[in-house]
Amino acid sequence: MSHTNRFRMPVLALAAGALLATGVAAQPASAHGGPPLRTLAHRADVRIGTAVDMAALADDRTYRSTTAREFDSVTAENVMKWESVEPQRGVYDWKPADDLVRYARAHGQVVRGHTLVWHSQLPGWLTAGVADGSIGAAELRVILRKHITTEVKRYKGRIQQWDVVNEVFEEDGSLRNSIWLQQLGPSYIADAFRWAHAADPRAKLFLNDYNVEGVNPKSTAYYELAKRLRAEGVPVQGFGAQAHLAIQYGFPGDVSANLARFEALGMQTAFTEVDVRMILPVDEAKLATQASYFRRLLDACLGARSCKSFTVWGYTDRYSWVPGVFGGQGAATPMDEGYGRKPAYGALGEGLAAGR
Ligand code: XIL
Repeated sequence: MSHTNRFRMPVLALAAGALLATGVAAQPASAHGGPPLRTLAHRADVRIGTAVDMAALADDRTYRSTTAREFDSVTAENVMKWESVEPQRGVYDWKPADDLVRYARAHGQVVRGHTLVWHSQLPGWLTAGVADGSIGAAELRVILRKHITTEVKRYKGRIQQWDVVNEVFEEDGSLRNSIWLQQLGPSYIADAFRWAHAADPRAKLFLNDYNVEGVNPKSTAYYELAKRLRAEGVPVQGFGAQAHLAIQYGFPGDVSANLARFEALGMQTAFTEVDVRMILPVDEAKLATQASYFRRLLDACLGARSCKSFTVWGYTDRYSWVPGVFGGQGAATPMDEGYGRKPAYGALGEGLAAGR
């Protein structure tokens, strides 16, 4: 899996894909009698979060009220990414990100900042400038420092955790061959954490990636990096496992052991982008397997003192990124496209109710 701008797609196409994705009846949200997830999460001393689609938040009242009722942490699905906040060089658009931070404050939610350094969803002026040589390495480093400093300072005191670097390793544990590595060398990672820390010393600063839930060469590369950076005094405090899972690939091995080794370094851990996709069409057996995957991830989190937040990458299939990106797959979230509760929603509720 790689993430490029081609993953962006019109909302209409997403919605159409989501509508095709289901057909299995689920409880409408309003029929639920039990406490919201965030109430249960509070008792379990964990934050329950979701990625937020700002277009949906503006247009869809049910989305707005459900996001507030069920979650006590939010992550911007797109609007804090570099292409969104600085679409032209020196021309910033903070409005949607400001809106999310304000919404979170109004509803007693913390915010995960996502993301400062990534190879994907970069502004065109930056990638074009590097490609044509008009932005050289020295200038790129200055630009990166300014980007991190500007964004982190803007939300100083209002972002609980920042994904400082996102997806910097390949599956084999080698550093990803991004423009950051090519132009700046491996030291860009430590620099990014130092700059972010200087801009907001109280925010918890995270590494974040996919396919790092269990113990494997990629997560081990993160472990070695984190150990080395912390020994050098670099301010890296958290390890985020995105957890974009798929039932057809099986559940990752050694998830608890993986969290435990980062915890042993003195770091926080988190699941930051959980969804569990399936090959369509949906059926009861697939939904049951999906529910068990959500529950096993949640249980791993609740079983680790270091794991203080569990964030889903969207909670309704109505707005999930999955159908647009993974051909023939979908239904990856705990609610269907009509906000009906799937077995995965119940599994999360039961897991949170069971507590740590
Ligand atoms: C995805 C969003 O969900 C899409 O709307 C967008 O088109 C592409 O990015 N890993 C990440 C997230 O860190 O930022 C990605 O979000 C999903 C994979």
